[in-house]
Amino acid sequence: MSLPTPPRHREIFSVVGLDLERAGQVSTEVQRILRRLGVEPEVVRRAGIVCFEGEMNIVLYTPGGRIILLVYDDRVELIFSDQGPGIPDVELARQPGYSTAPEWARELGFGSGMGIPNMEANSDRLEIRSRVGEGTVIRATLFRRKGEAAGNSGKAGA
Ligand SMILES: Nc1ncnc2c1ncn2[C@@H]1O[C@H](COP(=O)(O)OP(=O)(O)OP(=O)(O)O)[C@@H](O)[C@H]1O
Ligand SMILES: [Mg+2]
Repeated sequence: MSLPTPPRHREIFSVVGLDLERAGQVSTEVQRILRRLGVEPEVVRRAGIVCFEGEMNIVLYTPGGRIILLVYDDRVELIFSDQGPGIPDVELARQPGYSTAPEWARELGFGSGMGIPNMEANSDRLEIRSRVGEGTVIRATLFRRKGEAAGNSGKAGA
């Protein structure tokens, strides 16, 4: 039996709940780090979307939490954890259009109920564990694919 390979890179960010001024900063930083590490542009793009949605949900629905970025040779993982109210029905929360966003969040353009579906669409695996009154942990896994090396594609970016 071999031990699991440790990540090549690991970063922890804290997210302050209801701090709309800084909302989105972690996902910008995550994309910057992944680009610097030479992660494939397509994976960087998808990780940015997953991170933004997870970060916004921590900001909108919880007093705060953290995001852990793990970069492996074969995948990128993003782990979102918070000490918020929890999600009573995770299957329902995965449905497009389901939202409990308060009025003030809707006025800012949130509350389409597309965040979790978007996280799902942009990761290869999305695990959600939540306990009412304790909090939520979401782990997104994005596999890296060979032949998509950064700067390798003549078509990417312009
Ligand atoms: N970290 C969390 N803690 C508690 N509840 C959450 C959390 N994340 C999501 N939810 C619940 O799941 C619902 C669906 O989340 P989702 O991100 O899909 O949509 P939304 O945030 O309501 O709208 P959008 O993301 O499109 O702006 C939320 O409305 C909220 O009720
Ligand atoms: Mg959301």
